[in-house]
Amino acid sequence: MEQLTATSKTLSECTPEAGRLSTGPGKVRLTADSPFLQSVLKGLCSKSKFLESKYFYDEAGDELFRQIMACPEYYPTDCEHEIFSRQTAYLASALIPDSEDFDVIELGAGDATKSIFLLSEILGRNQKFTYLPVDISSNVINNLQTQLPARLPGLRVTGLNGEYFQMLAKATERPAKRKIVLFLGGNIGNIPYEEARQFCLKMREHLAKGDLVLIGFDLKKDPRVILSAYNDKAGLTRDFNLNLLKRINRELGANFNLDNFSHYPTYDPANGACKSYLVCNISQEVNIAGETIRFRQGETVFMEISQKYTPDQTDELAHQCGFRRSAHFYDSRQWFLDAVWECI
Ligand code: AVJ
Repeated sequence: MEQLTATSKTLSECTPEAGRLSTGPGKVRLTADSPFLQSVLKGLCSKSKFLESKYFYDEAGDELFRQIMACPEYYPTDCEHEIFSRQTAYLASALIPDSEDFDVIELGAGDATKSIFLLSEILGRNQKFTYLPVDISSNVINNLQTQLPARLPGLRVTGLNGEYFQMLAKATERPAKRKIVLFLGGNIGNIPYEEARQFCLKMREHLAKGDLVLIGFDLKKDPRVILSAYNDKAGLTRDFNLNLLKRINRELGANFNLDNFSHYPTYDPANGACKSYLVCNISQEVNIAGETIRFRQGETVFMEISQKYTPDQTDELAHQCGFRRSAHFYDSRQWFLDAVWECI
């Protein structure tokens, strides 16, 4: 990622104490090998400050994201929900070409609302498969593991809590069955466009010829529609961003004052990059695990990118990464694309 280019030298220069245990107000015990702490210090010690959006998803963040998905301005979920609910049988046919057993791996499964349509359709076809949801949130995986079998009797679920590729590696260690990888919701948008190719190449390396992936891409459209999806009137997206500071306070013993930061979303229709920042309202110092971080008035903390695509860009990505485009599913407004790619 663009953000991950800061060198480890920067980290050690900036965090001589990071190796020691620290006791913050919440009596947290931290070690240097805490990936969350490392990521936060690396991001906030960089020249252009950033935080990694994958850490948005603690329990409060999961709940805020659920509320965002339900708010009137946030359209991607509605679009993909429409695709999954109205074109279920076509989707299933595009993903299951024969009667062999297979595994369905879902990266960033969330509450699986959309995939449930597909899983239920496949169960009805009496095909043998296991559903392997992957999510960074342990909360999400626990919920799926307990709730899904009750909602979909007969479904075999093996939850995997962790990072995409570590869990994809685990999932593909399983007996050599055909894999179907779902990567929905426009989650791929959280990777900058230049890096999506590396991501897809890496995903392809974990798979075998004939395996299928279904990727949801949020498409370029009226920039006002896009920007307001990340700037909802109720302030949910603002709270979602600020919640990461709260999480840092709680888990890393920091002392961010949330009132000193403003949520500032941007969208550039020329390159399709939708980016969120927190802007510092005043000059201030913040302590994190024994480190003091200086913020200037007007300084930005880059929080998240949600990259938007054209259908042609998604085809190009497929071709560059060892896939053949095998089907495209759009919602009725053509705001969102679920692309099915076959590994070649
Ligand atoms: C979960 C990554 C698809 O980028 O649209 C929603 C997260 N951030 N509102 C997105 C998000 C702000 C969402 N994804």
